[in-house]
Amino acid sequence: MPAVIHEAGTSANIVGGNDIARTRRASPLKYSGTLDKYSWNDLTPVIGREFEGVQIKDLIAAEDQVIQDLAVTISERGVVFLRDQDVTPIQMKHFMLRLTEHAGCPESSGLHVHPLTEEGSELGDQISVISSEKQKKGGGLTHMLSDVSRFASNAWHSDITFEPVPSDYAMLKIHTLPATGGDTLWASGYEIYDRLSPAMQRMLEGLTATHDARFFLEEAKNLGNPLREGKRGSPLNQGSELTAVHPVIRTNPVTGWKSVYVNKGFTKRINGVTKDESDMLLSYLFNLVTQNHDAQVRFKWRKNDVAIWDNRSTWHCATYDYEQARAGDRVCSLGEAPYLDLGSRSRREALGL
Ligand code: SIN
Repeated sequence: MPAVIHEAGTSANIVGGNDIARTRRASPLKYSGTLDKYSWNDLTPVIGREFEGVQIKDLIAAEDQVIQDLAVTISERGVVFLRDQDVTPIQMKHFMLRLTEHAGCPESSGLHVHPLTEEGSELGDQISVISSEKQKKGGGLTHMLSDVSRFASNAWHSDITFEPVPSDYAMLKIHTLPATGGDTLWASGYEIYDRLSPAMQRMLEGLTATHDARFFLEEAKNLGNPLREGKRGSPLNQGSELTAVHPVIRTNPVTGWKSVYVNKGFTKRINGVTKDESDMLLSYLFNLVTQNHDAQVRFKWRKNDVAIWDNRSTWHCATYDYEQARAGDRVCSLGEAPYLDLGSRSRREALGL
């Protein structure tokens, strides 16, 4: 079991976390209405919202309450989509720093530097270039989409959960697209938690899991880039271990809702149970994510569209069904070290559903 943090007012309710990377939120945030002037459309009942008429570059200088309301919206809906964005990678970084700060990230958390990002890259350390050409060269995702597997669903993951301090939010802008294909899907971790029986919820709340990305060591060799071993956006994210232990169920501090926090890409083992039990539990949880299309949203990109999602409470999966180039820029901000607040609620419970 992870260390129990005793916080004023919350006593032993908090499981996991780390003093160096604790959320600054004492309670969940409430939406105040500042985004009501825009039109929006919820893409499914549980996940995804598309806004119209919002340009991120205009939000960079928006008042704090607007940024905070957007953080609440992303965390509640899991992912938001903004079409045709005139935003540069530098502006994306500025915006993400404001977003994570207003959502309450720890002071020690900044923007992530991916262990495979080339040192001195043109766009800066905190931009991950998502590129089909680069993936072919590095053998990227072959651990997920290997010759053995013919399941596209093998690529479901949350970003960088192998770091002790993983991502709260991610923003992806796709600027180069194939004529068709290359859609991305997201699934709701809140909804998957709500589909577990109370007995299973209680059991999983007592467990941690190990997340492991040591396959990046091989990929770094293939790409010919040394692995980034220095500070990757948090003093806790350093070195070549690329392994972290997190609670299986975590609380999102922005909504206060519980989410399942294991993923096909990086989670290798549920701890404290036998290997057989771990395999069975992980396989069941992964099946809940991949086989419940009513907990998912699928987005068809157009050039320069942007998605911003909450990595604490969603998974996503790119679709590799195209031959032409597909590329974009991604920025991941870092949140808190994952924790479970035993007193927190599920999404359905909180919304009275
Ligand atoms: C990612 O996994 O963050 C990128 C998703 C995509 O390429 O659609």
